[in-house]
Amino acid sequence: MTDNKKVVEIIKVMAEIIHENAQFLTDLDAPIGDNDHGINMDRGFQKVLEDLPGVENSDIGAILKKTGMDLVSTVGGSSGPLYGTAFMKAGAAVAGKNEIDADDFIDIMDAAVGGVQLRGKAEKGEKTMLDAMIPAVEAIKKGVDAGKTPAEFLADGVEAAKEGVEYTKTIIATKGRASYVGERSIGHQDPGATSFTLLLESIAALYN
Ligand SMILES: Nc1ncnc2c1ncn2[C@@H]1O[C@H](COP(=O)(O)OP(=O)(O)OP(=O)(O)O)[C@@H](O)[C@H]1O
Ligand SMILES: [Mg+2]
Repeated sequence: MTDNKKVVEIIKVMAEIIHENAQFLTDLDAPIGDNDHGINMDRGFQKVLEDLPGVENSDIGAILKKTGMDLVSTVGGSSGPLYGTAFMKAGAAVAGKNEIDADDFIDIMDAAVGGVQLRGKAEKGEKTMLDAMIPAVEAIKKGVDAGKTPAEFLADGVEAAKEGVEYTKTIIATKGRASYVGERSIGHQDPGATSFTLLLESIAALYN
């Protein structure tokens, strides 16, 4: 499905898309959070970008691990440790590999979800990034099982993530800063679920 070079390309696209959407993500964080999600993510991915040349020739596990470490140290807030752990666990799932197939990709996504849950102790339905991640991973698994191509199963994942974002508009936040606004969080989509969807779209952008 991909080799180191393509992983580096994907991460560059992630940084670009997060940069383009920094204001949008921050605006989403205004009514239910503290108005910083896009700023946080953009700062983190710019650091990742800066450090990419140093890991370009490393294996995929090491590239993902370094990405996670950069996110932990620069994003801050809740999303820094959460996404950082997700990328570090994803890296550990494919440690030493220079090429990965669809099954490895599922391992990466499972490890990412596991990392977010290990850190954040949230479940589906709490208005977090997990409301996009969990359905996306389920859709990707289904697609892989059905023998779909990466372009097809990634498109399925993006669609499920987008539905997850819509779902976050209908529920009350019970984790993170958004939980402080209680019922007033209804009607607002979750910034983290939205940024995850953008990251998955960044991967899908390189498969069509
Ligand atoms: N326990 C958690 N598990 C999973 N995701 C979470 C959790 N807590 C917060 N998030 C995600 O982090 C996003 C907010 O990220 P941000 O960069 O704004 O950090 P923050 O300002 O510290 O916010 P918060 O205090 O809401 O966590 C939320 O939209 C949500 O998706
Ligand atoms: Mg915030």
